[in-house]
Amino acid sequence: MSDSLPEPSSIEARPGPFFRRLLRYDAVDSTNEVAKLLLGHGAEEGTILVAKRQSAGKGRHGRVWASPPGGLYVSLVVRPEPQYVVTLGLLSGIPVVKALRHFGVFASLKWPNDVVFMEKKIAGILSEGVYRGSEFYAVVGVGVNTTIDLERLPEDVRARATSVKREVAEYVDNDDFLEYAMKHFEDIVSKFRSGTRDRLIKDYRGLCTTIGKDVVVTSSHGAVRGRAYDVTPLGALVVMGEDGGKTEVVDGTVEYVR
Ligand code: BTN
Repeated sequence: MSDSLPEPSSIEARPGPFFRRLLRYDAVDSTNEVAKLLLGHGAEEGTILVAKRQSAGKGRHGRVWASPPGGLYVSLVVRPEPQYVVTLGLLSGIPVVKALRHFGVFASLKWPNDVVFMEKKIAGILSEGVYRGSEFYAVVGVGVNTTIDLERLPEDVRARATSVKREVAEYVDNDDFLEYAMKHFEDIVSKFRSGTRDRLIKDYRGLCTTIGKDVVVTSSHGAVRGRAYDVTPLGALVVMGEDGGKTEVVDGTVEYVR
């Protein structure tokens, strides 16, 4: 990743109440990386970065997020308490699902924050914590396959992905999509700050189709098998094994077992 700060093509003021500054870029390596650089240059929470394409988009667990033109690539700068960064990343799936449903794709969440339609991935979220001195920030990166041509994705990704363009006949404009999602992001941040996170976790559970399924969750700590039973108030997945024992998994990749 480059250390030089790319020049935005525009800087716009937003009505907020929380997200009040939008920086637009034509192309960057990764909006999350640029957000982290900007934090080093005094960027404030409530900043949004959006790029038309990324040359080195990052996915969860060190994976690549293929970012051809037409997709929506956004990073949001928020300042949660460090212990809630994972929860915030999890809950950030809610606005994305709501926006997809609004624009005609009945998407849902696959724990922790894959956004899927008919088990094909349509959006993903990468939430990263970063310190500026003693101040902790979260950069919440959201990638949505809005109007991308699936042919432009690597073959292995394409087989498991879909896009708004593929699922909905009507053209969906990225700015309209972002504005709709941002209203719900504002709501998430405001509830998050006012301490009504439990309510948000209820909303999350309602949109998460992993609960009730037989799963294998793989993480750096190994694999956990069983039935996805619940999501805790902090966002961990509770997996119930055959013997009835429950394990809480904080991060990992879920495969459904049929
Ligand atoms: C995943 O599902 O693996 C997470 C994908 C997150 C992709 C977005 S696109 C905008 C932001 N910038 C990045 O480099 N990654 C996130």
